[in-house]
Amino acid sequence: MTTTAVPQFDQTKFDAALGRFLGDAGAAFSSALVLVGDKLGLYKALNEGGAQTARQLAERTGTHERYVREWLSNQAASGYITYDPETRTFALPAEHVPFLADDTSEVTMFGLFSMAAVLFADEPKITEVFKTGQGLGWHEHDQRLFACTERLFRPGYRAHLVADWIPALDGVAAKLRAGARVADIGCGFGTSTILMANAYPAASFVGYDYHVPSIEAARSAASAAGLSDRVTFEVASARDLSGDGFDLVCCFDCIHDMGDPVGVLSRLRRLLKQDGTLMMVEPFASDTLEENLNPIGRIFYAASTMLCTPASRAQEVGLALGAQAGEIKMRAVATEAGFSKFRRASETPFNLVYELRP
Ligand SMILES: C[S@@+](CC[C@H](N)C(=O)[O-])C[C@H]1O[C@@H](n2cnc3c(N)ncnc32)[C@H](O)[C@@H]1O
Repeated sequence: MTTTAVPQFDQTKFDAALGRFLGDAGAAFSSALVLVGDKLGLYKALNEGGAQTARQLAERTGTHERYVREWLSNQAASGYITYDPETRTFALPAEHVPFLADDTSEVTMFGLFSMAAVLFADEPKITEVFKTGQGLGWHEHDQRLFACTERLFRPGYRAHLVADWIPALDGVAAKLRAGARVADIGCGFGTSTILMANAYPAASFVGYDYHVPSIEAARSAASAAGLSDRVTFEVASARDLSGDGFDLVCCFDCIHDMGDPVGVLSRLRRLLKQDGTLMMVEPFASDTLEENLNPIGRIFYAASTMLCTPASRAQEVGLALGAQAGEIKMRAVATEAGFSKFRRASETPFNLVYELRP
């Protein structure tokens, strides 16, 4: 007679899972409150005013004390702020300021939390494409996505693009200083384009994106920065671009979103001068799934499921590389597109920066 072993129920594992799920559900519930705190300036006022009661914070921000007290209580339970029962005051620890009260910080959380709201809003559409297998174009998402994306990526570009990434490319900084021609593909709101234009006054820039409202926002930003004479933005799909003579072609967080990354890169190769460079910035990823099972991979796989994979599947070919493609796959795509050189030039915990040469 054979007996089947009944798996033991491990209470310790159950308790750990309960803690984990309660923590995650608490974070999901509380993320809308982070947006409230951002919009009403509650975190900044906590930072500027030091430890304060709900009434003091409400007075400082022109909000209603009863709501503020409830919000503060959630924030204290979240561990985002501290509470002193003796004085009934709440405070934002100095170590939390870069996450919640400094928009210029590289670890500001508002881009991520705003993006979470977009993912929730788009969930019914994404549930549907799971069944049909169809794509969902970048332009078909909740319209808050585009400004959220700009806000999410801006701090990293501000911190690294001019200081680290361009200098890491062979000979490119010198060309830009001397007056190079640059194309920024899938430029969105043009933040990367404008940062480079401000840093290199002798160079000229053109940003391309197929999404009309993003290009309109980019044009306004260039005009506000007084750069319209040498920074232009055009509505164009990357696959249809023509022209040549560019010293530098940049692709910030967009190649994996495209349906035909091989076709696009092959087209972009022809835009370059013989000695030109293509800078491809992609989300940080290792090559195997098991290496990406970490907090950053978790966020990127969520964005990839909800945004990047459907965006690619909505376009011709629909390769759907995903946001966690990794270096081996990106090298294979670049090689297939005809680039003879490919190397990882720089990286941050959030991005990989590749240098491609024709
Ligand atoms: C994740 S967003 C990145 C935007 C911007 N580069 C940034 O880093 O903030 C991807 C961008 O690629 C654009 N895009 C996607 N497919 C495209 C295509 N085939 N041609 C041109 N732009 C495309 C989208 O409209 C979107 O603005």
